[in-house]
Amino acid sequence: MSTMNYDDRIPNNVNLSSDKKLLKALEKWHPAYLAWWNEMGPEGYQNADVYLRTAVSTEPGGWAQFGYVKMPEYRWGIFLADPEPDRVVPGGDHAGEAVWNEVPGEYRNLLRRIIVTQADTEPASVEQQRWLGQTAPSLYDMRNLFQVNVEEGRHLWAMVYLLQAYFGKDGRDEADDLLARRAGDADKPRILDAFNQPCPDWLTFFSFTMFTDRDGKYQLGALAESGFDPLARTCKFMLTEEAHHLSVGELGIERVLRRASQLEREDPNGDARALGGIDVPTVQKWINYWFTYSLDLFGSEISTNAADFFGAGLKGRWREADDYTDHRAIGATMNIPQVKAGRLVDNEVALRNGMNEVLREAYAKDCERVVKRWNAALEEEGSQFRVSLPSTRFFRRQGIYAGHHFDPSGALIDATAWEAQRTLWLPTEEDRIYVASLMKPVLRPGQVANWIAAPRRGINHQAPDFEYVRFE
Ligand SMILES: [Fe+2]
Ligand SMILES: [Fe+2]
Repeated sequence: MSTMNYDDRIPNNVNLSSDKKLLKALEKWHPAYLAWWNEMGPEGYQNADVYLRTAVSTEPGGWAQFGYVKMPEYRWGIFLADPEPDRVVPGGDHAGEAVWNEVPGEYRNLLRRIIVTQADTEPASVEQQRWLGQTAPSLYDMRNLFQVNVEEGRHLWAMVYLLQAYFGKDGRDEADDLLARRAGDADKPRILDAFNQPCPDWLTFFSFTMFTDRDGKYQLGALAESGFDPLARTCKFMLTEEAHHLSVGELGIERVLRRASQLEREDPNGDARALGGIDVPTVQKWINYWFTYSLDLFGSEISTNAADFFGAGLKGRWREADDYTDHRAIGATMNIPQVKAGRLVDNEVALRNGMNEVLREAYAKDCERVVKRWNAALEEEGSQFRVSLPSTRFFRRQGIYAGHHFDPSGALIDATAWEAQRTLWLPTEEDRIYVASLMKPVLRPGQVANWIAAPRRGINHQAPDFEYVRFE
């Protein structure tokens, strides 16, 4: 096991103190990072004591330490999963060769682009979520928000470490630019579209952590199968943190659905909104919107870039090393239906060109599993409603289905039919105003806003009414 140096200013298990040049670069970046955190991180509560977990080891199961921390004093560190002895490149043209511990010259630009694109999402989500502390439905939820925020900050550190340690001057410039772009900014936006969308309410936050952080899980999973070992090890450790973000989203929406069902029963007309809840059909619209925005993040269905990344061994499929036997994927094909002459027709594509779609399918399956659990909760609460995922062709802005209209079942429809029904499928201005009107902070331990059910379990074996955030 690698040793964890926790005494350094930057906790790490990469033996930072022995690499003077890198240490200097990171120490120079540190104040700029803190300035960014103070300007663009959570608005308010920076002096509150938040019951947070901090990574203190990379051992499975034993890496987190819980305690009260003021967010600007959080120990953002650099941790890589321990190296796997004799690890080989999992997929692509180099499958089976020894992994690279230095950046291969021929793939330098591709690799830098992959790392910068992933890195950019980390501070972006902190910026998108910066106002939510003001309207937290409970202290438990506020704490979860801040936990996600500090860990996205740490993910930025993890990626900046790779840029500064392996990409010289270009890497240092990229690290600076990561603090200069801003989510939703007209002049200096974040790289990917979903990370420029506003996150004004908690239903959006839960949808984002459920669907968009889950995209992150799959992107990190693909990078954990990289032949560039430092990247693979970095992403592997990030995945352990990501699991909590996903549960915040899944359980958050589940609690909204449970509360909606309870209010539905109480209202004589079965209308949860009449009693100040977020009714299930409204939640369904948020699901439709964020699931599809997150699908766009996987890139085009048919993509030579995806083929290049896979062929070069820079990215693998989800669980490439464990779940596949043909790691080269040459000669195989897959069907990716496409619109031709106004009709959706089958279309045989080389498997390597469909690698984005392979990852998207794995992601959609994972989302399906959660939807099943949500529906089990609705059934248990006696609701008349169920939720579902729309087709992966529905409401796409990128890829081969963009520019066409599909209904949630995936059937091709014309523009008139789309316009006539889109307000049934996607959040309207009125829906957004209604949801926003419910967002009022609830700051007493154990109390929860009316529109969401109380959590069933607390954090780290604490009770749900534990004082998760203490104010000055
Ligand atoms: Fe992240
Ligand atoms: Fe995350």
